[in-house]
Amino acid sequence: MSSLIEIRSRLNEYIESELQLESIHSPRLVEAMRYSVLGGGKRLRGCLVCAAATSLGSTLQQSLATAAAVEYIHAYSLVHDDLPDMDDADTRRGKPSCHVAFGPAIAILVGDALQPLAFSAIAGCEELSEWQRVTCVAILGDASGWNCMVGGQAMDMESEGKAIEDATVLATLNDAKTGALFRACTELGATIAGYKQDSRVFHLMSKFGHRLGAAFQIADDVLDATGSTEGLGKPAGADLVAGKRNFVSYLGILGAKEKANTILKDALAVLQELRLEDSMLAEIAELSVNRTA
Ligand code: IPE
Ligand code: IPE
Ligand code: MG
Ligand code: MG
Ligand code: MG
Repeated sequence: MSSLIEIRSRLNEYIESELQLESIHSPRLVEAMRYSVLGGGKRLRGCLVCAAATSLGSTLQQSLATAAAVEYIHAYSLVHDDLPDMDDADTRRGKPSCHVAFGPAIAILVGDALQPLAFSAIAGCEELSEWQRVTCVAILGDASGWNCMVGGQAMDMESEGKAIEDATVLATLNDAKTGALFRACTELGATIAGYKQDSRVFHLMSKFGHRLGAAFQIADDVLDATGSTEGLGKPAGADLVAGKRNFVSYLGILGAKEKANTILKDALAVLQELRLEDSMLAEIAELSVNRTA
């Protein structure tokens, strides 16, 4: 069984080779795509796909295209999240944000290009059967679209500065903008391992990923309030300045940390129900919450 470090490095190598693209139209677009996906990022979501799939008996090779696809979607979401009309963040992963390095027009197009790339990566994955490809495309499409990630991003922007001090609304916001993609990662892993959507294993994996995503976003909000710009590789303290509504503004730093840890415990309890032999998913879960960047 591979370690998390090995999985991350195999995934990085895979993404690097898949992004050796040559454009006759705009080499600069490809440069900006590579800039935004490669050379940084914890790859938690991609590793989650691989770890879920391999813990259920699939090979790592079978999971790489789908894991890369999730990382393309995630990278696009960050490029757009940083745009001046969204969070207006100048740095990302310790470098100038894509729009700072390449301009907003290219940054928008990077997102536009990474999205279909993700879906064609899955659709063309010969390691997966047809039903698996179709199911994976549907799972990722739902999780990243209007009713999940993008809807959550809209809700996040619309709630800036507003008095939304309600735990249910905040949980809905987190679930949409971040939780759904985490849930998709574990569902994709189950699909790659051959589990259908009506199976108990798929259901438990889904529940685990969902809880993990909720805990992850609260940890991100805590880090925004407690970390440094240098340590995070993105502007610290930005949520307070922008008037973001999250569990830190609602419960305070200690309360939010406690909430993240309670949800993490819940997630780990769901994982136990799966009775898996390897603990890489537990390691990813711990890392998602107890991290410094
Ligand atoms: C940042 O995600 C965006 C959020 C949903 C909070 P990550 O912290 O996973 O970002 P990278 O991929 O490691 O840069
Ligand atoms: C971003 O949340 C969520 C998505 C990109 C979907 P944040 O705005 O909190 O992420 P960071 O803190 O900029 O990484
Ligand atoms: Mg944001
Ligand atoms: Mg942001
Ligand atoms: Mg944040």
